[in-house]
Formats: sequence, C-alpha cells, structure tokens
Amino acid sequence: MDKPIGIFDSGVGGLTVAAAIKRQLPGESFIYFGDTKHSPYGDKSGDTIRRYSSEISEFLLAKDCKAIVIACNTASALAYDELVKKHPNLPILNVVDPVAQFVASQKPEKIGIIATRATTKSKIYKKRLLEINTNLIIEDAATPLLVGLVEEGFLNTEVSKAAIKQYLQHPKFRNLDSLILGCTHFPLLQKEIEIFFKGKTHVVDSPELVAKELAKILKGKNLLCENEEGQYQFYVSEKTAAFSKIAKNFFGENIQLKEKQL
Ligand code: DGL
Repeated sequence: MDKPIGIFDSGVGGLTVAAAIKRQLPGESFIYFGDTKHSPYGDKSGDTIRRYSSEISEFLLAKDCKAIVIACNTASALAYDELVKKHPNLPILNVVDPVAQFVASQKPEKIGIIATRATTKSKIYKKRLLEINTNLIIEDAATPLLVGLVEEGFLNTEVSKAAIKQYLQHPKFRNLDSLILGCTHFPLLQKEIEIFFKGKTHVVDSPELVAKELAKILKGKNLLCENEEGQYQFYVSEKTAAFSKIAKNFFGENIQLKEKQL
C-alpha cells in the first residue's frame, strides 16, 4: 500500500495527470518520469515508443512502484498492450480507456479527437469508442503544433488562438457534442478551446478521469495508501532549463528534478 505509483510521459504533459492524482489521492506517493531526452513521442515510430516505454517501466519497477500510469496518449496508444503483456500482475493504466468510456457514457452523436500524429494514426480512440457504440460519428486530427505551443508557454496568446482556430475550424469539426483532448499537453488549452466552440461542445480532458480510475483500481486491489500526505519524486532523462521553467504550468507548483539517463 505504501509503495509509490509510477507515472510517465514523454516530457511535461503527464504532469497534468500527476497533478490530478495528487488532488484526488493526496495520501499516495508517486515517482514521475519525463522522457525529455526523447520528447516528443508524437512523431516517432511504434517500435521506438514501445522501447522507451519499456525502459521507463523497468526503471519505475526497480523503484518498487505498485502501479504504473502511462500519462501520455501516444505511449498509451502504442505501448500499453505490450506493457500489460510483460507485467500481467501489475496494475497498469492508460489515459485512453477512462476517457473513451466517459465520453461514450454521455451519449453523444458526434465526437472529435485531437492528438499527436502517432496517436491519431493509431486510431486508438476511434477503436475504443466504436467498441462501445458502433453508431458514433467520429472525426479526428493530428494537431502537433499545439504541443510545441504549450511547451513554449504560449497560453492565452494570439498564436495559441490562431493555431486552435486553424486546426478546429475545419468543417468536419462542426456540431461536435464532445471534443477529446487526446494529448496530455492539451488540458492547458482547454479554456481557449471551449471559447473557440462558444461553450457548445463538451471539451474532455483525461487527468481527472484517469485519477478517478486509478483510485477505483487501487481500492479494488486493496492498494490504497492511507498516509496523510504523499511523497513525490520527479525524474527526467535529460535535465533542461525549459522543463524546470514550464513544469509549474503543468503541475501547479515548483518541482525538484533529478536526472536519470536510460
Ligand atoms: N504527452 C504526449 C501525449 O499525450 C504528447 C507529446 C509528445 O508528442 O511527446 O501524446
């Protein structure tokens, strides 16, 4: 129960998930790993993403983690199945399934998804949503520029507004009931995207849903920690000034970084 949860992402994006876990499960400790050396994952091949995800998981397991949260949509799309196969007895969560289940439960007719190129190409959200409801209309688009904008801290700027408009004004995104933010960087743009849709489309992000699912799974396996306050460790594969600077935007507070090359 007292063991930490391992959380990983290609870089900073997964800190949005770590922050939600801290909010919902304040007694849990976690070890976060951001693969800054290999970020972004969104333009890499499936084999490469699986190799990186596997190495990070080995590192987290060597640190005695009781569960792993893949806090990256790209790694969730391409490496989840392989990690589950390698570690059948370990609770492993991806960020796609809780979101697909939640969105489908809202009984929408038309759903949009924005994500990295690799996630979009994998069609993971479409597959998961259509497994639940075969009648859904689903439109998606790769929006890699939004990742860079968020990393640069260009939030609520002319450039972020213009990029959101450029990607989302496509006719296929008209009359959406829900838009899935299929990248853990995008919750930072949620308000701007909601404004673009004039509040008429439900913009769904993953962090709170993933944290809720984690709580359910840990409870079900009797692994919930009853401590008052968790301990947090943050590792990156390459320490960069940029990561330290922007991490606060994602996690909500300053963090101390350790470097671990894999
Ligand atoms: N955090 C990654 C995701 O959720 C996006 C960034 C990347 O391309 O590495 O897909």
